[in-house]
Amino acid sequence: MNTDHIPVITIDGPSASGKGTVAQKVAAKLGFHYLDSGALYRLVALAAMRSEVDLSDEKTLSEVAARLNVIFKDTEIRMDDENVADAIRSEACGNSASRIAAYPLVRTALLARQRAFRQLPGLVADGRDMGSVVFPEAALKIFLTASAETRAERRHKQLMEKGIDANIATLLQDIQERDARDSNRSVAPLQVGADTNFLDTTSLDITQAVNCVLQQYAEICAKGRA
Ligand code: DC
Repeated sequence: MNTDHIPVITIDGPSASGKGTVAQKVAAKLGFHYLDSGALYRLVALAAMRSEVDLSDEKTLSEVAARLNVIFKDTEIRMDDENVADAIRSEACGNSASRIAAYPLVRTALLARQRAFRQLPGLVADGRDMGSVVFPEAALKIFLTASAETRAERRHKQLMEKGIDANIATLLQDIQERDARDSNRSVAPLQVGADTNFLDTTSLDITQAVNCVLQQYAEICAKGRA
């Protein structure tokens, strides 16, 4: 089926930038579908860790990615019929996801699954390479970021609210290491493309960031380019 006419907004950015929250809210406002592509890499990491696959075995990891039996339903992410929405959010899963996401075979294995989210009336997709690789023809491409310190503080607050103890200095170090890995890998690195709008949320709250994206999309629609 040709999906070229279905509008896509991509929101790429580094870890803990708040892109997931912003993307979800933009999707809800527009009545669009939502793709959390990072969740797919986290699911591969979780499945691999559970079946004790060596995280340096690219070929087997790509098979795990191709075989993922997963259903996204509201806030639930069901893998092999177990809700793993919380399990994939652990720092361990995030770090393993960042490692395996550097493998071209794993990325290729997840490509069609991501593109299948492009359904009417539209899609908001968040990740690292949504605008550069997965949906290069997206109507609007955003690069959403904040300083590493601000992101560490936000992640710390989130974890404390969930009753999880965390240390800001360790979180900051993890974020910086993950940024370096996600930005410097040879395939689909995190980067700001020439056709991408940069949105720094260091001094913006969620509502301001959401409104900014919605306004940019409205301008594109008004020009008849969505
Ligand atoms: O957005 P996140 O923290 O849930 O993503 C987890 C890891 O997955 C991240 O460190 C890099 C990788 N990732 C990726 O390489 N490409 C994407 N489109 C999304 C995530």
